[in-house]
Amino acid sequence: MARARSGVDVAPRGRVPYGPPRAAPAAVIPTATLITLLACAPDDSPMPRSIATIPFGTTATGEVVDLFTMTNANGIEVRAITYGGIILSIKTPDRDGRWDDIVLGFDSLEPYEAGSPYFGSIIGRYGNRIAGGRFTLDGETFTLATNNGPNHLHGGDVGFDKVVWGGEPFEREDAVGVAFTYTSVDGEEGYPGTMEVRVTYTLTDANELIFDYRATTDRATPVNLTQHSYFNLAGGAAADILGHELTLDASRFTPVDTTLIPTGELAPVEGTPFDFRTATTIGARIDDDHPQLAAGLGYDHNFVLDGDDPDVTSGLAEKNREGLHRAAFVFEPLTGRTLEIHTAEPGIQLYSGNFLDGTIAGKAGRVYGHRSGFCLETQHFPDSPNQPAFPSTIVRPGEEYSTRTVLTFGVAG
Ligand code: GLA
Repeated sequence: MARARSGVDVAPRGRVPYGPPRAAPAAVIPTATLITLLACAPDDSPMPRSIATIPFGTTATGEVVDLFTMTNANGIEVRAITYGGIILSIKTPDRDGRWDDIVLGFDSLEPYEAGSPYFGSIIGRYGNRIAGGRFTLDGETFTLATNNGPNHLHGGDVGFDKVVWGGEPFEREDAVGVAFTYTSVDGEEGYPGTMEVRVTYTLTDANELIFDYRATTDRATPVNLTQHSYFNLAGGAAADILGHELTLDASRFTPVDTTLIPTGELAPVEGTPFDFRTATTIGARIDDDHPQLAAGLGYDHNFVLDGDDPDVTSGLAEKNREGLHRAAFVFEPLTGRTLEIHTAEPGIQLYSGNFLDGTIAGKAGRVYGHRSGFCLETQHFPDSPNQPAFPSTIVRPGEEYSTRTVLTFGVAG
């Protein structure tokens, strides 16, 4: 617990102290013995990692969708499909060796197509909002779909979450993964330039899930790719995510107007409900009387990551892992599960599942109530194409957009 609460410490590195769920038949071995066996399994008898591909379904327009099941040497399992690059499930152990699925979603393809709040999907061409669905680039004004009130959200009517990607499984010495590829044609959803996009998910034996995003274009265009998994680290043990203890390595955030477009200010979190520099439950201040919480109906804000910004003196900036900075650490007290996020991106969107309202029945019929999942979307800041003071999101011909985010799963206290 002390580790998780410290706010600056990191999750246990390396393997979780548990083996895979299928290591021994629970029915014939007493629970106490089973836990001992599982605790010994990874070092004594590592499971072979694996990657399997099977058909998942066919879209309404007849496109075949594949399902990839990635399993690492410790038994952590990630399932993802070629429709939207959607992560269907992530199974990890809790502190007592009980395994559960820690993301929200559906069991079959049809509900993803019928209307999903971006459960588990790749987001593009532009993650988050562009004001008024318009931006001007090199003197030309482009008009995008306004699919979120007056604004453009998550790539438009048919964003990267609603297309079928190519998918190629791969295996390395210490990891398995899938490379998703997609060609976004010139003019798609109003964006300029044909863009070749490649997003890989790599599940390592160090219990990391690595997202690598790459894109090239034949014409200047904004790009801001992210991953929209909704986490509930309690698995089935808690209906909402308000008890999760969150640390964000961010001394500032970007306040928004009532349509969730940044005002342009980088506001200090100090003294506000947006100060997560030391571990605080998501629910502790979510209903405070604060105009920004009123605008977001809770947390739905971009945080400015301290990274290696010399102007920031919080002391939380922590460079590691091939130049990535830590963005977030989450500890779920009921189960002990932890999630740590490192990224090359300057921002992270904390979305506390405010629009979930109990009308969606997900996996195994489970109803997803208000704030039953949270998203931590690494990104450039919302509306950057219209905000010259924000880090640029423009990629030009001859350049490569390349960014990485690493999730690390663990357990603590
Ligand atoms: C993002 C947005 C939210 C919401 C969700 C999807 O996180 O910032 O406002 O649109 O996606 O429901």
